[in-house]
Amino acid sequence: MSATRTATVNTSRGNALDVARVRADFPALHQQVNGRPLVYLDNAATTQKPQAVLDALLGFYSRDCANVHRGVHALSQRATDAYEGARETVARFLNARPREIVFTRGTTEAINLVAYSYGSRLSPGDEILITELEHHSNIVPWQMLAERTGARLRVAPINDRGEIILEEFQRLLGPRTRIVAVAHVSNALGTVNPVEEICRLAHTYGARVLVDGAQAVPHLAVDVRALDCDFYAFSGHKIYGPTGIGVLFGRWELLEAMPPYQGGGDMIRSVTFEKTLYNDPPYRFEAGTPHIAGAIGLAAAIEYVTRLGLEEIRRHEQQLLQAATRALEEIPGVRIVGTAAHKAAVVSFVLDGVHPHDVATVLDHEGVAVRAGHHCAQPLMERFGLPATTRASFALYNTLEEVDALARAVRRARELFD
Ligand code: ALA
Repeated sequence: MSATRTATVNTSRGNALDVARVRADFPALHQQVNGRPLVYLDNAATTQKPQAVLDALLGFYSRDCANVHRGVHALSQRATDAYEGARETVARFLNARPREIVFTRGTTEAINLVAYSYGSRLSPGDEILITELEHHSNIVPWQMLAERTGARLRVAPINDRGEIILEEFQRLLGPRTRIVAVAHVSNALGTVNPVEEICRLAHTYGARVLVDGAQAVPHLAVDVRALDCDFYAFSGHKIYGPTGIGVLFGRWELLEAMPPYQGGGDMIRSVTFEKTLYNDPPYRFEAGTPHIAGAIGLAAAIEYVTRLGLEEIRRHEQQLLQAATRALEEIPGVRIVGTAAHKAAVVSFVLDGVHPHDVATVLDHEGVAVRAGHHCAQPLMERFGLPATTRASFALYNTLEEVDALARAVRRARELFD
Protein backbone atom coordinates (compact mmCIF):
# COMPACT_ATOMS: atom_id res chain seq x y z
CA MET A 1 0.00 0.00 0.00
CA SER A 2 1.40 3.37 -0.85
CA ALA A 3 -0.52 6.52 0.04
CA THR A 4 -2.87 5.56 2.78
CA ARG A 5 -6.57 6.21 3.11
CA THR A 6 -5.78 5.51 6.71
CA ALA A 7 -8.41 5.67 9.35
CA THR A 8 -7.13 8.49 11.49
CA VAL A 9 -9.55 8.42 14.31
CA ASN A 10 -10.27 11.24 16.68
CA THR A 11 -10.81 9.89 20.12
CA SER A 12 -12.36 11.04 23.33
CA ARG A 13 -8.84 11.75 24.57
CA GLY A 14 -8.37 13.89 21.51
CA ASN A 15 -5.64 11.56 20.27
CA ALA A 16 -5.56 9.88 16.91
CA LEU A 17 -4.10 6.61 15.75
CA ASP A 18 -1.70 7.59 13.00
CA VAL A 19 -1.72 4.34 11.07
CA ALA A 20 0.89 5.37 8.53
CA ARG A 21 3.30 6.00 11.39
CA VAL A 22 2.30 2.80 13.14
CA ARG A 23 3.03 0.83 9.97
CA ALA A 24 6.55 2.21 9.88
CA ASP A 25 7.15 0.41 13.20
CA PHE A 26 6.52 -3.04 11.64
CA PRO A 27 9.35 -4.15 9.32
CA ALA A 28 7.53 -7.28 8.07
CA LEU A 29 4.66 -5.26 6.59
CA HIS A 30 6.91 -3.65 4.00
CA GLN A 31 7.37 -6.52 1.58
CA GLN A 32 5.92 -7.85 -1.62
CA VAL A 33 4.20 -11.21 -1.83
CA ASN A 34 3.62 -12.70 -5.27
CA GLY A 35 4.58 -9.35 -6.77
CA ARG A 36 1.98 -7.44 -4.72
CA PRO A 37 2.32 -5.38 -1.56
CA LEU A 38 1.64 -7.65 1.40
CA VAL A 39 -1.83 -7.18 2.88
CA TYR A 40 -1.58 -9.06 6.16
CA LEU A 41 -5.05 -10.02 7.40
CA ASP A 42 -4.22 -13.15 9.39
CA ASN A 43 -3.78 -11.37 12.69
CA ALA A 44 -6.03 -13.71 14.67
CA ALA A 45 -3.50 -16.46 13.88
CA THR A 46 -0.52 -14.30 14.77
CA THR A 47 0.43 -10.64 14.54
CA GLN A 48 3.52 -8.98 13.10
CA LYS A 49 6.02 -7.50 15.54
CA PRO A 50 6.96 -3.84 16.02
CA GLN A 51 10.62 -2.78 16.08
CA ALA A 52 10.30 -2.12 19.84
CA VAL A 53 9.67 -5.84 20.42
CA LEU A 54 12.48 -6.90 18.08
CA ASP A 55 14.82 -4.48 19.88
CA ALA A 56 13.82 -5.86 23.29
CA LEU A 57 14.61 -9.42 22.17
CA LEU A 58 17.91 -8.40 20.62
CA GLY A 59 18.77 -6.31 23.70
CA PHE A 60 18.25 -9.26 26.01
CA TYR A 61 20.25 -11.71 23.93
CA SER A 62 23.04 -9.28 23.09
CA ARG A 63 23.54 -7.69 26.56
CA ASP A 64 21.64 -9.30 29.42
CA CYS A 65 21.50 -12.98 28.51
CA ALA A 66 21.60 -15.01 31.73
CA ASN A 67 19.30 -17.24 33.70
CA VAL A 68 16.85 -15.76 36.22
CA HIS A 69 16.44 -16.23 39.99
CA ARG A 70 19.66 -18.24 40.16
CA GLY A 71 22.80 -16.16 39.77
CA VAL A 72 24.35 -13.45 41.91
CA HIS A 73 26.30 -12.09 38.95
CA ALA A 74 25.39 -8.86 37.24
CA LEU A 75 23.89 -10.33 34.07
CA SER A 76 21.68 -12.70 36.02
CA GLN A 77 20.45 -9.81 38.15
CA ARG A 78 19.70 -7.74 35.04
CA ALA A 79 17.86 -10.67 33.47
CA THR A 80 15.88 -11.27 36.68
CA ASP A 81 14.97 -7.59 36.97
CA ALA A 82 13.81 -7.51 33.37
CA TYR A 83 11.82 -10.75 33.72
CA GLU A 84 10.13 -9.65 36.94
CA GLY A 85 9.63 -6.20 35.46
CA ALA A 86 7.78 -7.88 32.61
CA ARG A 87 5.51 -9.56 35.15
CA GLU A 88 4.73 -6.16 36.66
CA THR A 89 3.94 -4.75 33.21
CA VAL A 90 1.53 -7.60 32.52
CA ALA A 91 -0.07 -7.16 35.95
CA ARG A 92 -0.66 -3.44 35.35
CA PHE A 93 -2.07 -4.21 31.89
CA LEU A 94 -4.70 -6.57 33.35
CA ASN A 95 -5.20 -4.64 36.62
CA ALA A 96 -3.88 -7.63 38.56
CA ARG A 97 -1.09 -8.08 41.11
CA PRO A 98 2.32 -9.35 39.90
CA ARG A 99 2.08 -12.48 42.06
CA GLU A 100 -1.16 -13.35 40.24
CA ILE A 101 0.64 -13.48 36.87
CA VAL A 102 2.07 -16.82 35.72
CA PHE A 103 4.13 -16.92 32.54
CA THR A 104 3.21 -19.86 30.33
CA ARG A 105 3.96 -20.92 26.75
CA GLY A 106 0.68 -19.43 25.62
CA THR A 107 -3.08 -19.51 26.13
CA THR A 108 -3.20 -23.25 25.50
CA GLU A 109 -0.71 -24.03 28.24
CA ALA A 110 -2.44 -21.60 30.62
CA ILE A 111 -5.78 -23.39 30.14
CA ASN A 112 -4.13 -26.80 30.52
CA LEU A 113 -2.47 -25.60 33.72
CA VAL A 114 -5.83 -24.65 35.24
CA ALA A 115 -7.55 -27.80 33.99
CA TYR A 116 -4.79 -29.97 35.43
CA SER A 117 -4.11 -28.14 38.68
CA TYR A 118 -7.34 -26.45 39.75
CA GLY A 119 -9.25 -29.25 38.02
CA SER A 120 -7.69 -31.90 40.24
CA ARG A 121 -10.31 -31.09 42.90
CA LEU A 122 -13.24 -32.12 40.66
CA SER A 123 -15.19 -35.29 41.46
CA PRO A 124 -17.56 -37.52 39.49
CA GLY A 125 -20.78 -35.67 38.82
CA ASP A 126 -19.21 -32.19 38.93
CA GLU A 127 -19.84 -30.12 35.83
CA ILE A 128 -17.68 -28.01 33.55
CA LEU A 129 -19.59 -25.54 31.36
CA ILE A 130 -18.16 -24.27 28.07
CA THR A 131 -19.85 -22.81 24.98
CA GLU A 132 -20.35 -23.83 21.38
CA LEU A 133 -17.96 -21.19 20.05
CA GLU A 134 -14.80 -22.27 21.86
CA HIS A 135 -11.41 -22.86 20.28
CA HIS A 136 -10.16 -26.46 20.61
CA SER A 137 -7.77 -25.27 23.32
CA ASN A 138 -10.77 -24.35 25.48
CA ILE A 139 -12.54 -27.65 24.76
CA VAL A 140 -10.01 -30.47 24.77
CA PRO A 141 -8.31 -29.75 28.15
CA TRP A 142 -11.78 -29.82 29.77
CA GLN A 143 -12.70 -33.06 27.99
CA MET A 144 -9.45 -34.56 29.28
CA LEU A 145 -10.27 -33.30 32.79
CA ALA A 146 -13.76 -34.79 32.56
CA GLU A 147 -12.24 -38.14 31.53
CA ARG A 148 -9.76 -38.04 34.43
CA THR A 149 -12.24 -37.07 37.13
CA GLY A 150 -15.64 -38.34 35.98
CA ALA A 151 -16.88 -34.76 35.70
CA ARG A 152 -19.41 -33.90 33.00
CA LEU A 153 -18.76 -31.42 30.18
CA ARG A 154 -21.77 -29.29 29.26
CA VAL A 155 -22.00 -26.94 26.30
CA ALA A 156 -24.01 -23.72 26.11
CA PRO A 157 -25.45 -23.10 22.63
CA ILE A 158 -25.13 -20.02 20.42
CA ASN A 159 -27.66 -18.41 18.10
CA ASP A 160 -27.38 -18.00 14.33
CA ARG A 161 -25.52 -14.70 14.71
CA GLY A 162 -22.85 -16.47 16.76
CA GLU A 163 -23.86 -15.10 20.18
CA ILE A 164 -24.08 -17.16 23.36
CA ILE A 165 -27.74 -17.63 24.30
CA LEU A 166 -27.54 -16.35 27.86
CA GLU A 167 -30.84 -17.88 28.99
CA GLU A 168 -29.58 -21.29 27.85
CA PHE A 169 -26.22 -20.66 29.48
CA GLN A 170 -27.98 -19.79 32.72
CA ARG A 171 -30.20 -22.89 32.44
CA LEU A 172 -27.07 -25.07 32.25
CA LEU A 173 -25.58 -23.59 35.41
CA GLY A 174 -26.32 -25.44 38.62
CA PRO A 175 -24.95 -26.41 42.02
CA ARG A 176 -22.70 -29.02 40.35
CA THR A 177 -21.08 -26.45 38.02
CA ARG A 178 -17.51 -26.09 39.23
CA ILE A 179 -15.81 -24.45 36.27
CA VAL A 180 -17.06 -22.21 33.46
CA ALA A 181 -14.61 -21.71 30.57
CA VAL A 182 -15.45 -19.18 27.89
CA ALA A 183 -13.71 -17.17 25.18
CA HIS A 184 -13.74 -13.41 25.63
CA VAL A 185 -13.68 -13.04 21.83
CA SER A 186 -14.36 -15.88 19.37
CA ASN A 187 -11.35 -16.49 17.12
CA ALA A 188 -13.50 -17.80 14.27
CA LEU A 189 -16.44 -15.34 14.40
CA GLY A 190 -15.17 -12.28 16.25
CA THR A 191 -18.08 -12.32 18.73
CA VAL A 192 -17.30 -10.39 21.91
CA ASN A 193 -18.94 -12.40 24.68
CA PRO A 194 -20.56 -10.79 27.74
CA VAL A 195 -17.95 -12.23 30.10
CA GLU A 196 -18.77 -9.84 32.93
CA GLU A 197 -22.35 -11.10 32.95
CA ILE A 198 -21.14 -14.70 32.55
CA CYS A 199 -18.88 -14.30 35.61
CA ARG A 200 -21.73 -12.80 37.60
CA LEU A 201 -24.08 -15.66 36.73
CA ALA A 202 -21.45 -18.36 37.31
CA HIS A 203 -20.49 -16.93 40.69
CA THR A 204 -24.07 -17.09 41.93
CA TYR A 205 -23.62 -20.89 41.69
CA GLY A 206 -20.14 -20.80 43.22
CA ALA A 207 -18.48 -21.80 39.93
CA ARG A 208 -15.05 -20.47 38.95
CA VAL A 209 -14.65 -18.79 35.57
CA LEU A 210 -11.70 -19.07 33.21
CA VAL A 211 -11.73 -16.55 30.35
CA ASP A 212 -9.76 -17.38 27.19
CA GLY A 213 -8.59 -13.90 26.26
CA ALA A 214 -6.30 -14.82 23.36
CA GLN A 215 -8.39 -12.88 20.84
CA ALA A 216 -9.48 -10.12 23.20
CA VAL A 217 -6.31 -8.51 24.58
CA PRO A 218 -5.12 -7.21 21.18
CA HIS A 219 -8.48 -5.50 20.59
CA LEU A 220 -9.93 -4.28 23.89
CA ALA A 221 -8.77 -3.05 27.27
CA VAL A 222 -9.08 -5.90 29.77
CA ASP A 223 -9.52 -5.37 33.51
CA VAL A 224 -9.71 -8.68 35.35
CA ARG A 225 -11.09 -6.99 38.47
CA ALA A 226 -13.89 -5.32 36.54
CA LEU A 227 -14.69 -8.59 34.76
CA ASP A 228 -14.45 -10.34 38.14
CA CYS A 229 -13.10 -13.48 36.46
CA ASP A 230 -11.10 -16.11 38.35
CA PHE A 231 -8.61 -16.97 35.61
CA TYR A 232 -7.70 -15.10 32.43
CA ALA A 233 -5.38 -16.52 29.75
CA PHE A 234 -3.74 -14.91 26.73
CA SER A 235 -0.84 -15.36 24.29
CA GLY A 236 1.98 -12.94 23.58
CA HIS A 237 2.14 -13.48 19.84
CA LYS A 238 -1.41 -12.31 19.18
CA ILE A 239 -0.67 -8.95 20.80
CA TYR A 240 2.45 -8.14 18.75
CA GLY A 241 4.77 -10.04 21.13
CA PRO A 242 6.89 -13.16 20.62
CA THR A 243 5.59 -16.69 20.13
CA GLY A 244 6.07 -19.20 22.94
CA ILE A 245 5.11 -16.84 25.76
CA GLY A 246 1.71 -16.43 27.34
CA VAL A 247 0.03 -15.42 30.54
CA LEU A 248 -2.26 -16.93 33.10
CA PHE A 249 -3.85 -14.54 35.56
CA GLY A 250 -5.29 -16.34 38.57
CA ARG A 251 -6.86 -14.87 41.67
CA TRP A 252 -4.23 -15.07 44.39
CA GLU A 253 -6.32 -17.12 46.82
CA LEU A 254 -6.98 -19.70 44.08
CA LEU A 255 -3.37 -19.92 42.87
CA GLU A 256 -2.18 -20.23 46.46
CA ALA A 257 -4.31 -23.32 47.02
CA MET A 258 -3.48 -25.01 43.70
CA PRO A 259 -0.99 -27.89 43.34
CA PRO A 260 1.90 -27.55 40.86
CA TYR A 261 1.39 -28.32 37.19
CA GLN A 262 4.94 -29.46 36.39
CA GLY A 263 7.89 -30.30 38.63
CA GLY A 264 11.44 -29.02 38.24
CA GLY A 265 13.77 -26.19 39.09
CA ASP A 266 12.47 -22.84 40.40
CA MET A 267 9.09 -24.23 41.47
CA ILE A 268 10.47 -25.60 44.75
CA ARG A 269 11.38 -24.20 48.15
CA SER A 270 13.41 -27.25 49.19
CA VAL A 271 13.97 -30.75 47.89
CA THR A 272 14.98 -33.93 49.66
CA PHE A 273 14.42 -37.48 48.46
CA GLU A 274 11.78 -37.79 51.16
CA LYS A 275 9.83 -34.62 50.54
CA THR A 276 9.72 -31.53 48.37
CA LEU A 277 8.25 -28.23 49.51
CA TYR A 278 6.82 -26.14 46.74
CA ASN A 279 7.47 -22.49 46.08
CA ASP A 280 4.71 -19.86 46.24
CA PRO A 281 2.83 -18.82 43.12
CA PRO A 282 3.60 -17.68 40.52
CA TYR A 283 6.94 -19.56 40.70
CA ARG A 284 5.19 -22.78 41.73
CA PHE A 285 3.80 -22.87 38.19
CA GLU A 286 6.99 -21.91 36.33
CA ALA A 287 9.14 -25.05 36.48
CA GLY A 288 12.41 -24.90 34.54
CA THR A 289 14.09 -21.98 32.81
CA PRO A 290 11.27 -19.76 31.59
CA HIS A 291 11.04 -17.99 28.24
CA ILE A 292 12.92 -14.97 29.64
CA ALA A 293 13.34 -13.20 26.31
CA GLY A 294 9.70 -13.93 25.50
CA ALA A 295 8.47 -12.28 28.70
CA ILE A 296 10.66 -9.24 28.04
CA GLY A 297 9.43 -9.06 24.44
CA LEU A 298 5.82 -9.37 25.60
CA ALA A 299 6.31 -6.49 28.04
CA ALA A 300 7.68 -4.39 25.16
CA ALA A 301 4.59 -5.28 23.10
CA ILE A 302 2.25 -4.35 25.94
CA GLU A 303 4.07 -1.05 26.44
CA TYR A 304 3.75 -0.44 22.70
CA VAL A 305 -0.03 -0.94 22.54
CA THR A 306 -0.49 0.94 25.81
CA ARG A 307 1.39 3.90 24.36
CA LEU A 308 -0.89 3.90 21.32
CA GLY A 309 -3.98 3.44 23.50
CA LEU A 310 -6.28 0.42 23.56
CA GLU A 311 -9.32 2.64 23.02
CA GLU A 312 -7.71 4.27 19.96
CA ILE A 313 -6.84 0.81 18.62
CA ARG A 314 -10.38 -0.43 19.23
CA ARG A 315 -11.94 2.50 17.40
CA HIS A 316 -9.62 2.11 14.43
CA GLU A 317 -10.26 -1.61 14.17
CA GLN A 318 -14.02 -1.11 14.46
CA GLN A 319 -13.82 1.20 11.45
CA LEU A 320 -11.97 -1.53 9.53
CA LEU A 321 -14.51 -4.13 10.66
CA GLN A 322 -17.44 -2.06 9.44
CA ALA A 323 -15.76 -1.28 6.12
CA ALA A 324 -14.81 -4.93 5.54
CA THR A 325 -18.30 -6.16 6.47
CA ARG A 326 -19.91 -3.69 4.03
CA ALA A 327 -17.43 -4.41 1.22
CA LEU A 328 -17.81 -8.19 1.49
CA GLU A 329 -21.60 -8.08 1.81
CA GLU A 330 -21.76 -6.23 -1.51
CA ILE A 331 -20.08 -9.13 -3.34
CA PRO A 332 -22.65 -11.54 -4.79
CA GLY A 333 -22.30 -15.03 -3.32
CA VAL A 334 -20.51 -13.92 -0.15
CA ARG A 335 -22.08 -14.80 3.17
CA ILE A 336 -20.58 -13.56 6.42
CA VAL A 337 -20.53 -16.13 9.20
CA GLY A 338 -20.79 -14.47 12.59
CA THR A 339 -22.91 -11.34 12.72
CA ALA A 340 -23.02 -10.67 16.45
CA ALA A 341 -23.98 -7.22 17.68
CA HIS A 342 -20.61 -6.96 19.45
CA LYS A 343 -17.65 -8.06 17.40
CA ALA A 344 -13.91 -7.59 17.31
CA ALA A 345 -12.27 -7.04 13.93
CA VAL A 346 -12.65 -10.56 12.55
CA VAL A 347 -14.69 -11.35 9.43
CA SER A 348 -15.34 -14.99 8.56
CA PHE A 349 -17.10 -15.65 5.31
CA VAL A 350 -17.98 -18.22 2.69
CA LEU A 351 -18.21 -17.69 -1.07
CA ASP A 352 -20.90 -19.74 -2.83
CA GLY A 353 -19.48 -22.69 -4.74
CA VAL A 354 -15.85 -21.96 -3.88
CA HIS A 355 -13.97 -23.83 -1.19
CA PRO A 356 -12.50 -21.49 1.47
CA HIS A 357 -9.02 -22.88 0.76
CA ASP A 358 -9.38 -21.92 -2.91
CA VAL A 359 -10.52 -18.43 -1.90
CA ALA A 360 -7.48 -18.09 0.38
CA THR A 361 -5.16 -19.33 -2.40
CA VAL A 362 -6.46 -16.74 -4.86
CA LEU A 363 -6.14 -14.08 -2.18
CA ASP A 364 -2.54 -15.12 -1.54
CA HIS A 365 -1.79 -14.65 -5.25
CA GLU A 366 -3.04 -11.10 -4.81
CA GLY A 367 -0.76 -10.61 -1.79
CA VAL A 368 -3.62 -10.87 0.72
CA ALA A 369 -2.89 -13.20 3.66
CA VAL A 370 -5.97 -14.72 5.34
CA ARG A 371 -6.70 -18.02 7.07
CA ALA A 372 -9.02 -20.66 5.69
CA GLY A 373 -10.12 -23.77 7.52
CA HIS A 374 -11.99 -24.73 10.65
CA HIS A 375 -9.95 -22.27 12.75
CA CYS A 376 -9.42 -24.89 15.49
CA ALA A 377 -13.15 -24.67 16.20
CA GLN A 378 -14.62 -27.74 14.52
CA PRO A 379 -17.76 -27.95 16.72
CA LEU A 380 -18.50 -24.32 15.85
CA MET A 381 -18.15 -25.02 12.12
CA GLU A 382 -20.49 -27.97 12.57
CA ARG A 383 -23.00 -25.67 14.31
CA PHE A 384 -23.10 -23.59 11.12
CA GLY A 385 -23.11 -26.67 8.86
CA LEU A 386 -19.80 -25.67 7.29
CA PRO A 387 -16.50 -27.51 6.91
CA ALA A 388 -14.56 -24.25 6.90
CA THR A 389 -14.63 -20.50 6.33
CA THR A 390 -12.22 -17.91 5.02
CA ARG A 391 -11.27 -15.46 7.74
CA ALA A 392 -9.86 -11.95 7.50
CA SER A 393 -8.68 -10.65 10.86
CA PHE A 394 -7.50 -7.11 11.37
CA ALA A 395 -4.90 -5.41 13.51
CA LEU A 396 -3.98 -1.87 14.50
CA TYR A 397 -1.73 -1.48 11.43
CA ASN A 398 -4.33 -2.38 8.80
CA THR A 399 -5.80 0.30 6.55
CA LEU A 400 -8.98 0.96 4.61
CA GLU A 401 -6.96 0.44 1.39
CA GLU A 402 -6.24 -3.04 2.60
CA VAL A 403 -9.97 -3.62 3.09
CA ASP A 404 -10.39 -2.56 -0.56
CA ALA A 405 -7.60 -4.95 -1.59
CA LEU A 406 -9.36 -7.78 0.26
CA ALA A 407 -12.68 -7.05 -1.49
CA ARG A 408 -10.96 -6.83 -4.91
CA ALA A 409 -9.23 -10.16 -4.33
CA VAL A 410 -12.49 -11.85 -3.26
CA ARG A 411 -14.19 -10.52 -6.42
CA ARG A 412 -11.27 -11.95 -8.41
CA ALA A 413 -11.81 -15.36 -6.74
CA ARG A 414 -15.47 -15.20 -7.67
CA GLU A 415 -14.64 -14.44 -11.34
CA LEU A 416 -12.09 -17.24 -11.51
CA PHE A 417 -14.48 -19.87 -10.15
CA ASP A 418 -17.63 -18.62 -11.92
N1 ALA B 1 -5.96 -19.69 17.30
C1 ALA B 1 -5.32 -19.10 16.16
C2 ALA B 1 -6.31 -18.77 15.08
O1 ALA B 1 -7.47 -18.58 15.35
C3 ALA B 1 -4.20 -19.91 15.67
O2 ALA B 1 -5.92 -18.66 13.94
